[in-house]
Amino acid sequence: MIAIDGPSAAGKGTVAHALARKLRWHFLDSGALYRILALAALQRGIPLQQGSQVAALVPDLDIRFDPGDDDRDRIWVNGQDLTTAVRAETAGRQASQIAADPAVRAALLQRQRAFRQAPGLVADGRDMGTVVFPDACLKVFLDASPEERARRRHRQLRMAGIEAKMPALCEEIRERDVRDRNRPHSPLVAAPDAVVLDTTGFPADTVLSRIEALLTGPTDRLPRKAASGETDRKDSV
Ligand code: DC
Repeated sequence: MIAIDGPSAAGKGTVAHALARKLRWHFLDSGALYRILALAALQRGIPLQQGSQVAALVPDLDIRFDPGDDDRDRIWVNGQDLTTAVRAETAGRQASQIAADPAVRAALLQRQRAFRQAPGLVADGRDMGTVVFPDACLKVFLDASPEERARRRHRQLRMAGIEAKMPALCEEIRERDVRDRNRPHSPLVAAPDAVVLDTTGFPADTVLSRIEALLTGPTDRLPRKAASGETDRKDSV
């Protein structure tokens, strides 16, 4: 079990997906589950602030991820291809809103854990290493400057045929950072035993190689508990 967490647009999706492919392991894009749930709530006219009503939709959602040729899977929900809607920035913002509700987080917990199957799972999100898979054998926290993350998101959206303006993206990323880091339930934070990598200025390939090195390194792949007073492992790629 490998957990890859970090803020919005830190490159987690690209790197985690590529790693899963290389290892021939399963892949969980946990953010997509929050996005899908937000979209499903809006489709049914449920206000996003109504956490318990939103959470109650989870059992009705038949979600399938189909591996595509690129670094993103196609996403099917109850037989409908929702890939484009799920990837849109608005869905990310809506996901971040419902994600602050403990009922929503609890409803998605088992869904996420069910992805853990042999031979292994690479999971990307905000609380993979802290809450959903606390026993992961490798936990990585990927970070990058907000400006770099906005640039990456811009490029990613353009490649998906979605137009977005840089100032708006920067603002969006900053807003989401504040919400995801400051919510009382499962806030975005590096697990004490996570390897923190600042990926600013480094391409995805380099980040991937760094994580692979952690996996094969003699000591790095071992689970590690921080002793009291010990700081996180911080590293740049
Ligand atoms: O990774 P993403 O941008 O697709 O995630 C969208 C939002 O979903 C993110 O801003 C916060 C929420 N989320 C979460 O709270 N916990 C996760 N494990 C994954 C996503």
